[in-house]
Amino acid sequence: MEHNSQKYAAAFDKSEVSRCLLCLDPPCTGVCPQHADIGTILKSLYFKNFIGAVNRLNCDCTYCNAPCEKACVQSDTRLPVSIREILMQVKKDAWILPSEIIDRVDLSTDICGIKLENPFLLSSSVVASSYDMCKRAFEAGWAGASFKTICSFPQHETSPRFSAIRHHSNAFCGFKNIEQLSDHSVEENMQIFEKLRKEFPTKVIIASIMGQNEQEWTNLASKCEKAGASVIECNFSCPNMEDDDLGVTIGQSPELVEKFTRATKRGTKLPVLAKLTPNITDMVPIALAARRGGADGIAAINTINSITGVDIDTLVAEPAVRGKSIVGGYSGNAVRPIALRFISDLSRCEELDDMHISGMGGIETWRDALEFILLGSGSLQVTTAVMQYGYGIIDDMIEGLEEYMKCKGISSVKDLIGVAASTVVDHHSIERDTILFPVFDYELCNGCGRCYISCMDGGHQAIKFDLETRKPILVGNKCVGCHLCRLVCSQKAIKTARKTVKR
Ligand SMILES: Cc1cc2nc3c(=O)[nH]c(=O)nc-3n(C[C@H](O)[C@H](O)[C@H](O)COP(=O)(O)O)c2cc1C
Repeated sequence: MEHNSQKYAAAFDKSEVSRCLLCLDPPCTGVCPQHADIGTILKSLYFKNFIGAVNRLNCDCTYCNAPCEKACVQSDTRLPVSIREILMQVKKDAWILPSEIIDRVDLSTDICGIKLENPFLLSSSVVASSYDMCKRAFEAGWAGASFKTICSFPQHETSPRFSAIRHHSNAFCGFKNIEQLSDHSVEENMQIFEKLRKEFPTKVIIASIMGQNEQEWTNLASKCEKAGASVIECNFSCPNMEDDDLGVTIGQSPELVEKFTRATKRGTKLPVLAKLTPNITDMVPIALAARRGGADGIAAINTINSITGVDIDTLVAEPAVRGKSIVGGYSGNAVRPIALRFISDLSRCEELDDMHISGMGGIETWRDALEFILLGSGSLQVTTAVMQYGYGIIDDMIEGLEEYMKCKGISSVKDLIGVAASTVVDHHSIERDTILFPVFDYELCNGCGRCYISCMDGGHQAIKFDLETRKPILVGNKCVGCHLCRLVCSQKAIKTARKTVKR
């Protein structure tokens, strides 16, 4: 199944689908003569929920003159998305998809014993900063939210406060913010909690808090519990604070983490998560300090100190606030590998075995989410993808994960937590005695020669290129099996089949 689903993913990874703007009330949907929900199908493909897209594809485009493409908002200014071609390809490739082994799966899990209807939560940020936003998110299907960090000191924000690095398709690859904490008073936020608790009794409300001293941590935790929070999350990691003993400076000090976790625990009987910073070499000693202070789990990662770029015309770093900028927190898909590394470190530490891990950092699709689960996250949190695409991404996250589990025959998402954790080993334990040679699939190869260029200048000069046939040829005795050629191939035309024991 894995091979097939990967193959299917590959067909769409960099495809036309990424040009879709995922419009509000998609004009392509309304004009389909066969009433297909085209916008939703494209959205499912965009978020790698291929099975969901296939299941929804109830139109036959063979003889259609594609009014959907004429309706595409891009048709006036540039080429419309080639919707017909995409849908025909989906139909053609539908047979590749694996079939379901079981027909019911259970996505419910828990966070330190508090039931979650699914593992997906909003992470503490602007996406969960008001009653109305949380209400809409809960109604959309999110299992809960970590509310925008509550504090009792005033915030003084900049404008603008975000910048981004983009893919070719305009989507954010990485995102920088220089935003601080909630701009509501503690009392206003407590009223929001009370209302949410009453109206959404089954949703999990995580109160993210930050105090200026032990007393404040204790008081905030106590107030949040009284107002109906289900879990307390200590923000030990905001990179956008100025003062000592606030935000990230706490998360870089085991002593402060232990002290303020203990202070928080004094104020509440609820489970307490310590939200930790990646702006540190090793998170484990900090997590252990949180555990000593009484934390029940770790939330990670907060954002990474960054400068996303410098405007080469104005010569000011981004985002520019009246000609100046500051280092700010980086998030979004680009940080996922760094987040996964920290999750892996935490889940492989035996002394942290009894701690819940709430994983986050760059989750956009069900596949991203699954990777966090496989490495040990019992719950997941998301901000940047929601800022970009809205709460509706939950649909494809849930459906994609459910379909995966049905095809794998896994009935409970809990059975997936941490199953890949032990595959990450130390440098001494990795096998270094075999070479996995690349094998070219000449039918898939389009003769671009990029494998040759990379191998010549960045590899071991182990590929020859026949300019007549425009096909690569492996020079086996030079190849070290590094797989750079495979990674640069846009056609997935390089497989790994031949394995030999090292010479
Ligand atoms: C605009 C913005 C505001 C944020 N505000 C907070 C906050 O108030 N408290 C907090 O703990 N984390 C905050 N974060 C960090 C997120 O909760 C999350 O840890 C981080 O963005 C990584 O997840 P993501 O890649 O899904 O965004 C903020 C992130 C962004 C982008």
